[in-house]
Amino acid sequence: MTTRVLVLNGPNLGRLGIREPEVYGSATLEDLAEACRATGRLLDLSVEVRQTDDEAELIGWVHEAADDRLPVVLNPAAFTHYSYALRDALAMRTAPLIEVHLSNPASREEFRHTSVVSAVASGTVAGFGLLSYQLALQAVAELVKPREPAS
Ligand code: DQA
Repeated sequence: MTTRVLVLNGPNLGRLGIREPEVYGSATLEDLAEACRATGRLLDLSVEVRQTDDEAELIGWVHEAADDRLPVVLNPAAFTHYSYALRDALAMRTAPLIEVHLSNPASREEFRHTSVVSAVASGTVAGFGLLSYQLALQAVAELVKPREPAS
């Protein structure tokens, strides 16, 4: 059965393509969404990509994912570094959560070295541009795979 996955993107990621291309690359959000959907087709995942600049809307989507037991690939963007409200919402998750970043926050400014999200995520992929999302979807596919019963 095809697993639904939400790929959620936080503030300013709707500006990809024109936003600091030397940091985030030249692909647009639509390019990113198409790459995610294509990867999803290969992995038998039905991928829905959303973006918002609004913390309340993002938290609403996280609640929806928890209620519907949907895996999430999340780029929290700047919320990564300070949104305890988002972190508390994510702590209610009922399915795998992969934190992703296009850039490698650990190699950038000091304020980006803290993630308040990482501790409640299944894992993090950062620094590989669009490939970060594709690797995260691969992780989701592995994590939701039915396990062989122990003999
Ligand atoms: C980002 C890294 C964050 O520090 C930044 O605020 C973003 C994008 C990334 O994908 O590299 O908006 O999450």
